[in-house]
Amino acid sequence: MALIHGGQLQKVAKQFNIAPENWLDLSTGIAPFSYPIPAIPEQLYQALPQSSHDLVTAAKRYYAANSLLVTNGSQAIIKLLPTLWREQNQYSTTVYLPEQGYKEHALAWQTAGFTPCWYQDELPELTEIADNSVLVIINPNNPTGQLYQQTMLINYQAKLAKCGGLLVIDEAFIDVIKPCQSMTSVISNDKNTLILRSFGKFFGLAGIRIGFLIAEETWLAKFSEHLGPWQVNGPAQFIAQKALLDKNWQEKQQRKLKALTVRLRATLAENLPYELITKILGTDLFQTVYFKTGVDVEHYYIALCQQGVYVRLTDDKHALRFGLAKEEQLERLAKALTHINN
Ligand SMILES: Cc1ncc(COP(=O)(O)O)c(C=O)c1O
Repeated sequence: MALIHGGQLQKVAKQFNIAPENWLDLSTGIAPFSYPIPAIPEQLYQALPQSSHDLVTAAKRYYAANSLLVTNGSQAIIKLLPTLWREQNQYSTTVYLPEQGYKEHALAWQTAGFTPCWYQDELPELTEIADNSVLVIINPNNPTGQLYQQTMLINYQAKLAKCGGLLVIDEAFIDVIKPCQSMTSVISNDKNTLILRSFGKFFGLAGIRIGFLIAEETWLAKFSEHLGPWQVNGPAQFIAQKALLDKNWQEKQQRKLKALTVRLRATLAENLPYELITKILGTDLFQTVYFKTGVDVEHYYIALCQQGVYVRLTDDKHALRFGLAKEEQLERLAKALTHINN
Protein backbone atom coordinates (compact mmCIF):
# COMPACT_ATOMS: atom_id res chain seq x y z
CA MET A 1 0.00 0.00 0.00
CA ALA A 2 1.35 3.44 -0.93
CA LEU A 3 0.61 6.27 1.50
CA ILE A 4 -0.03 9.88 0.56
CA HIS A 5 2.82 12.26 1.44
CA GLY A 6 3.65 15.84 0.67
CA GLY A 7 6.19 16.41 -2.08
CA GLN A 8 4.17 14.68 -4.81
CA LEU A 9 4.11 17.75 -7.02
CA GLN A 10 4.19 15.95 -10.39
CA LYS A 11 1.04 14.04 -9.52
CA VAL A 12 -0.82 17.06 -8.11
CA ALA A 13 0.27 19.29 -11.02
CA LYS A 14 -1.24 16.77 -13.43
CA GLN A 15 -4.42 16.46 -11.39
CA PHE A 16 -5.00 20.25 -11.43
CA ASN A 17 -3.56 20.76 -14.90
CA ILE A 18 -1.02 23.42 -13.87
CA ALA A 19 2.61 23.02 -15.01
CA PRO A 20 4.91 21.96 -12.13
CA GLU A 21 7.09 25.08 -12.49
CA ASN A 22 4.10 27.31 -11.79
CA TRP A 23 3.39 25.92 -8.32
CA LEU A 24 4.23 27.25 -4.90
CA ASP A 25 5.09 23.96 -3.22
CA LEU A 26 4.66 24.13 0.56
CA SER A 27 3.66 20.50 0.90
CA THR A 28 6.63 19.24 2.93
CA GLY A 29 8.51 20.09 6.12
CA ILE A 30 11.80 20.35 4.25
CA ALA A 31 13.70 23.60 4.80
CA PRO A 32 13.31 25.94 1.79
CA PHE A 33 17.05 26.75 1.91
CA SER A 34 19.46 23.90 1.42
CA TYR A 35 23.06 23.44 2.41
CA PRO A 36 25.17 24.63 -0.53
CA ILE A 37 26.51 21.68 -2.50
CA PRO A 38 30.32 21.72 -2.31
CA ALA A 39 32.59 20.72 -5.23
CA ILE A 40 32.43 16.94 -5.17
CA PRO A 41 35.52 14.94 -6.21
CA GLU A 42 34.76 13.00 -9.40
CA GLN A 43 36.22 9.92 -7.75
CA LEU A 44 33.16 9.77 -5.50
CA TYR A 45 30.93 9.28 -8.53
CA GLN A 46 33.26 6.68 -10.03
CA ALA A 47 33.94 4.46 -7.04
CA LEU A 48 31.53 2.33 -5.07
CA PRO A 49 30.63 4.11 -1.85
CA GLN A 50 32.65 3.09 1.17
CA SER A 51 31.84 3.62 4.80
CA SER A 52 33.47 6.84 5.86
CA HIS A 53 35.08 7.13 9.26
CA ASP A 54 35.15 10.93 8.89
CA LEU A 55 31.41 11.09 8.23
CA VAL A 56 30.67 8.88 11.24
CA THR A 57 32.87 11.09 13.45
CA ALA A 58 31.15 14.26 12.18
CA ALA A 59 27.71 12.71 12.70
CA LYS A 60 28.55 11.48 16.22
CA ARG A 61 29.56 15.00 17.14
CA TYR A 62 26.52 16.68 15.54
CA TYR A 63 24.04 14.21 17.03
CA ALA A 64 25.90 13.83 20.37
CA ALA A 65 25.74 10.06 19.84
CA ASN A 66 28.07 7.23 20.89
CA SER A 67 27.19 4.82 18.12
CA LEU A 68 25.31 5.31 14.88
CA LEU A 69 24.69 3.89 11.44
CA VAL A 70 24.60 5.96 8.27
CA THR A 71 21.39 5.07 6.44
CA ASN A 72 19.53 5.85 3.26
CA GLY A 73 17.13 8.11 5.25
CA SER A 74 14.99 7.17 8.26
CA GLN A 75 12.46 5.52 5.98
CA ALA A 76 14.75 2.52 5.33
CA ILE A 77 14.90 1.84 9.07
CA ILE A 78 11.18 2.40 9.67
CA LYS A 79 10.32 -0.25 7.09
CA LEU A 80 12.74 -2.92 8.30
CA LEU A 81 12.49 -2.44 12.06
CA PRO A 82 9.31 -4.48 12.81
CA THR A 83 10.79 -7.59 11.17
CA LEU A 84 14.06 -7.29 13.08
CA TRP A 85 12.27 -6.64 16.36
CA ARG A 86 10.00 -9.67 15.85
CA GLU A 87 13.11 -11.85 15.41
CA GLN A 88 14.36 -10.55 18.72
CA ASN A 89 11.17 -10.68 20.76
CA GLN A 90 8.54 -13.14 19.57
CA TYR A 91 6.22 -12.20 22.47
CA SER A 92 5.88 -8.63 21.21
CA THR A 93 2.50 -7.97 19.64
CA THR A 94 1.39 -4.45 20.63
CA VAL A 95 2.67 -1.18 19.25
CA TYR A 96 1.64 2.23 20.62
CA LEU A 97 1.51 4.78 17.83
CA PRO A 98 0.52 8.45 17.54
CA GLU A 99 -2.92 8.74 15.96
CA GLN A 100 -1.65 11.74 14.03
CA GLY A 101 1.85 11.39 12.71
CA TYR A 102 4.04 10.15 9.90
CA LYS A 103 1.99 7.15 8.82
CA GLU A 104 4.85 5.02 7.51
CA HIS A 105 5.50 3.89 11.09
CA ALA A 106 1.98 2.50 11.43
CA LEU A 107 2.10 0.92 8.00
CA ALA A 108 5.35 -0.90 8.77
CA TRP A 109 4.20 -2.28 12.15
CA GLN A 110 0.75 -3.27 10.90
CA THR A 111 2.17 -4.94 7.80
CA ALA A 112 4.38 -7.03 10.09
CA GLY A 113 1.28 -8.14 12.02
CA PHE A 114 1.56 -5.96 15.15
CA THR A 115 -1.62 -4.63 16.77
CA PRO A 116 -1.73 -0.83 16.93
CA CYS A 117 -2.85 1.04 20.05
CA TRP A 118 -3.34 4.66 19.08
CA TYR A 119 -2.57 7.57 21.39
CA GLN A 120 -3.41 11.24 20.88
CA ASP A 121 -1.15 14.07 22.03
CA GLU A 122 -0.60 12.50 25.46
CA LEU A 123 1.60 9.40 25.60
CA PRO A 124 -0.03 6.28 27.07
CA GLU A 125 0.22 6.13 30.87
CA LEU A 126 3.42 4.43 31.99
CA THR A 127 1.40 1.96 34.04
CA GLU A 128 -0.75 1.01 31.03
CA ILE A 129 2.14 -0.06 28.83
CA ALA A 130 1.98 -3.81 28.26
CA ASP A 131 5.04 -6.04 28.66
CA ASN A 132 7.08 -6.58 25.46
CA SER A 133 5.30 -3.77 23.65
CA VAL A 134 6.70 -1.11 21.33
CA LEU A 135 6.20 2.62 21.79
CA VAL A 136 6.76 4.87 18.77
CA ILE A 137 7.19 8.58 19.49
CA ILE A 138 7.69 11.24 16.84
CA ASN A 139 9.42 14.09 18.61
CA PRO A 140 8.46 16.75 17.75
CA ASN A 141 5.45 15.27 16.03
CA ASN A 142 4.67 15.89 12.38
CA PRO A 143 2.08 17.40 11.78
CA THR A 144 1.02 18.44 15.33
CA GLY A 145 4.36 19.91 16.44
CA GLN A 146 3.84 18.28 19.87
CA LEU A 147 7.15 18.14 21.75
CA TYR A 148 7.77 15.58 24.50
CA GLN A 149 10.28 16.68 27.12
CA GLN A 150 13.46 14.68 27.49
CA THR A 151 12.89 14.29 31.24
CA MET A 152 9.59 12.52 30.55
CA LEU A 153 11.00 10.33 27.78
CA ILE A 154 13.68 9.04 30.14
CA ASN A 155 10.89 7.53 32.28
CA TYR A 156 9.43 5.80 29.23
CA GLN A 157 12.85 4.53 28.27
CA ALA A 158 13.29 2.96 31.72
CA LYS A 159 9.82 1.44 31.63
CA LEU A 160 10.27 -0.18 28.19
CA ALA A 161 13.69 -1.52 29.12
CA LYS A 162 12.22 -3.07 32.27
CA CYS A 163 9.25 -4.71 30.53
CA GLY A 164 11.17 -6.17 27.57
CA GLY A 165 9.74 -3.58 25.18
CA LEU A 166 11.16 -1.20 22.61
CA LEU A 167 11.15 2.59 22.45
CA VAL A 168 11.45 4.14 18.98
CA ILE A 169 11.98 7.89 18.84
CA ASP A 170 11.76 9.56 15.46
CA GLU A 171 13.57 12.88 15.75
CA ALA A 172 13.20 13.89 12.08
CA PHE A 173 12.34 17.50 12.97
CA ILE A 174 14.27 18.00 16.21
CA ASP A 175 17.18 19.93 14.67
CA VAL A 176 15.17 23.15 15.09
CA ILE A 177 14.60 22.48 18.81
CA LYS A 178 17.21 22.92 21.56
CA PRO A 179 19.66 19.97 21.37
CA CYS A 180 19.08 19.20 25.08
CA GLN A 181 15.62 17.84 24.15
CA SER A 182 17.09 15.09 22.00
CA MET A 183 17.46 11.63 23.51
CA THR A 184 20.59 10.79 21.50
CA SER A 185 23.03 11.52 24.31
CA VAL A 186 20.98 9.58 26.85
CA ILE A 187 20.67 6.14 25.31
CA SER A 188 24.31 4.85 25.28
CA ASN A 189 24.23 1.07 25.71
CA ASP A 190 20.48 0.74 25.98
CA LYS A 191 19.33 -2.12 23.72
CA ASN A 192 15.67 -1.08 24.03
CA THR A 193 15.81 2.35 22.42
CA LEU A 194 16.33 3.37 18.80
CA ILE A 195 16.50 6.96 17.57
CA LEU A 196 16.02 8.03 13.97
CA ARG A 197 17.53 11.25 12.65
CA SER A 198 16.68 12.57 9.20
CA PHE A 199 19.30 14.69 7.51
CA GLY A 200 17.14 15.99 4.67
CA LYS A 201 14.73 18.24 6.55
CA PHE A 202 16.88 20.74 8.44
CA PHE A 203 19.63 20.74 5.82
CA GLY A 204 17.06 21.04 3.02
CA LEU A 205 18.50 18.10 1.09
CA ALA A 206 15.88 15.36 1.28
CA GLY A 207 16.73 14.32 -2.28
CA ILE A 208 20.19 13.01 -1.45
CA ARG A 209 18.66 10.36 0.85
CA ILE A 210 20.78 10.15 3.95
CA GLY A 211 19.88 9.71 7.59
CA PHE A 212 21.20 8.17 10.80
CA LEU A 213 20.15 5.41 13.16
CA ILE A 214 21.36 5.99 16.69
CA ALA A 215 21.30 2.82 18.73
CA GLU A 216 23.40 0.29 20.56
CA GLU A 217 26.04 -1.55 18.45
CA THR A 218 24.21 -4.89 18.08
CA TRP A 219 21.21 -3.09 16.51
CA LEU A 220 23.51 -1.27 14.11
CA ALA A 221 25.17 -4.54 13.07
CA LYS A 222 21.79 -6.18 12.51
CA PHE A 223 20.48 -3.36 10.31
CA SER A 224 23.75 -3.19 8.45
CA GLU A 225 23.61 -6.91 7.68
CA HIS A 226 19.99 -6.75 6.46
CA LEU A 227 20.38 -3.59 4.40
CA GLY A 228 23.51 -4.82 2.65
CA PRO A 229 26.33 -2.79 1.10
CA TRP A 230 26.25 0.58 -0.71
CA GLN A 231 23.13 1.97 0.94
CA VAL A 232 24.30 5.58 0.82
CA ASN A 233 26.02 6.99 -2.24
CA GLY A 234 29.44 8.64 -1.99
CA PRO A 235 28.42 12.19 -3.02
CA ALA A 236 25.64 12.18 -0.37
CA GLN A 237 28.13 11.10 2.29
CA PHE A 238 30.54 13.83 1.24
CA ILE A 239 27.88 16.56 1.34
CA ALA A 240 26.50 15.40 4.69
CA GLN A 241 29.94 15.33 6.29
CA LYS A 242 30.59 18.95 5.30
CA ALA A 243 27.12 20.07 6.41
CA LEU A 244 27.29 18.34 9.79
CA LEU A 245 30.60 20.06 10.57
CA ASP A 246 29.50 23.50 9.41
CA LYS A 247 28.35 25.08 12.69
CA ASN A 248 28.29 28.54 11.18
CA TRP A 249 25.84 27.54 8.45
CA GLN A 250 23.72 25.59 10.94
CA GLU A 251 23.35 28.65 13.20
CA LYS A 252 22.38 30.84 10.24
CA GLN A 253 19.88 28.23 9.11
CA GLN A 254 18.30 28.13 12.60
CA ARG A 255 17.86 31.90 12.56
CA LYS A 256 16.46 31.96 9.02
CA LEU A 257 13.95 29.21 9.72
CA LYS A 258 12.81 30.88 12.92
CA ALA A 259 12.27 34.21 11.15
CA LEU A 260 10.35 32.55 8.30
CA THR A 261 8.18 30.67 10.79
CA VAL A 262 7.14 33.94 12.41
CA ARG A 263 6.29 35.35 8.97
CA LEU A 264 4.37 32.23 7.96
CA ARG A 265 2.33 32.21 11.17
CA ALA A 266 1.46 35.88 10.69
CA THR A 267 0.46 35.30 7.05
CA LEU A 268 -1.78 32.39 8.01
CA ALA A 269 -3.36 34.22 10.95
CA GLU A 270 -4.01 37.37 8.93
CA ASN A 271 -5.40 35.75 5.81
CA LEU A 272 -7.44 32.80 7.02
CA PRO A 273 -10.88 33.41 8.60
CA TYR A 274 -10.01 33.27 12.32
CA GLU A 275 -13.55 32.23 13.26
CA LEU A 276 -13.03 28.90 11.46
CA ILE A 277 -9.66 28.08 13.02
CA THR A 278 -8.97 26.50 16.39
CA LYS A 279 -5.16 26.61 16.49
CA ILE A 280 -1.96 26.90 14.49
CA LEU A 281 0.78 24.55 15.73
CA GLY A 282 4.08 23.30 14.42
CA THR A 283 7.84 23.67 14.47
CA ASP A 284 10.30 25.94 12.70
CA LEU A 285 9.97 23.64 9.67
CA PHE A 286 6.18 23.66 9.18
CA GLN A 287 2.96 25.04 10.64
CA THR A 288 -0.34 23.18 10.82
CA VAL A 289 -3.68 24.97 10.83
CA TYR A 290 -6.51 23.17 12.65
CA PHE A 291 -10.06 24.04 11.66
CA LYS A 292 -13.26 23.88 13.67
CA THR A 293 -15.40 20.75 13.42
CA GLY A 294 -17.70 20.94 10.45
CA VAL A 295 -15.39 23.06 8.27
CA ASP A 296 -14.75 21.44 4.91
CA VAL A 297 -10.94 21.55 5.06
CA GLU A 298 -10.59 19.60 1.83
CA HIS A 299 -12.40 22.46 0.09
CA TYR A 300 -9.58 24.79 1.29
CA TYR A 301 -6.97 22.35 0.08
CA ILE A 302 -8.58 22.12 -3.37
CA ALA A 303 -9.10 25.88 -3.60
CA LEU A 304 -5.39 26.41 -2.88
CA CYS A 305 -4.40 23.78 -5.44
CA GLN A 306 -6.58 25.47 -8.05
CA GLN A 307 -4.41 28.54 -7.53
CA GLY A 308 -1.19 26.51 -7.79
CA VAL A 309 -0.48 26.47 -4.06
CA TYR A 310 0.29 22.97 -2.84
CA VAL A 311 0.02 22.28 0.89
CA ARG A 312 -0.60 19.08 2.83
CA LEU A 313 -4.11 18.06 3.78
CA THR A 314 -3.69 15.90 6.89
CA ASP A 315 -4.83 12.29 6.70
CA ASP A 316 -7.86 12.95 8.94
CA LYS A 317 -8.75 15.97 6.72
CA HIS A 318 -9.06 18.25 9.77
CA ALA A 319 -6.01 20.40 9.14
CA LEU A 320 -3.66 21.85 6.54
CA ARG A 321 0.10 21.73 7.02
CA PHE A 322 2.16 24.51 5.45
CA GLY A 323 5.88 24.20 4.82
CA LEU A 324 7.91 27.39 5.21
CA ALA A 325 7.57 29.89 2.37
CA LYS A 326 10.51 32.06 1.39
CA GLU A 327 10.03 35.77 2.01
CA GLU A 328 9.32 36.44 -1.68
CA GLN A 329 6.66 33.70 -1.77
CA LEU A 330 4.57 34.99 1.13
CA GLU A 331 2.62 37.48 -0.91
CA ARG A 332 1.45 34.78 -3.29
CA LEU A 333 0.41 32.63 -0.36
CA ALA A 334 -1.47 35.52 1.27
CA LYS A 335 -3.33 36.26 -1.97
CA ALA A 336 -4.29 32.64 -2.47
CA LEU A 337 -5.61 32.41 1.10
CA THR A 338 -7.71 35.56 0.83
CA HIS A 339 -9.02 34.49 -2.55
CA ILE A 340 -10.61 31.40 -0.94
CA ASN A 341 -12.37 33.55 1.62
CA ASN A 342 -13.94 35.88 -0.92
C1 LIG B 1 8.35 12.18 11.09
C2 LIG B 1 9.08 11.66 9.90
N1 LIG B 1 9.98 10.68 10.05
C3 LIG B 1 10.68 10.20 9.02
C4 LIG B 1 10.50 10.67 7.74
C5 LIG B 1 11.32 10.08 6.63
O1 LIG B 1 12.46 10.83 6.48
P1 LIG B 1 13.72 10.43 5.62
O2 LIG B 1 13.79 11.39 4.52
O3 LIG B 1 14.87 10.57 6.57
O4 LIG B 1 13.55 9.02 5.16
C6 LIG B 1 9.58 11.69 7.51
C7 LIG B 1 9.36 12.23 6.16
O5 LIG B 1 8.58 13.11 5.92
C8 LIG B 1 8.85 12.21 8.62
O6 LIG B 1 7.95 13.19 8.47
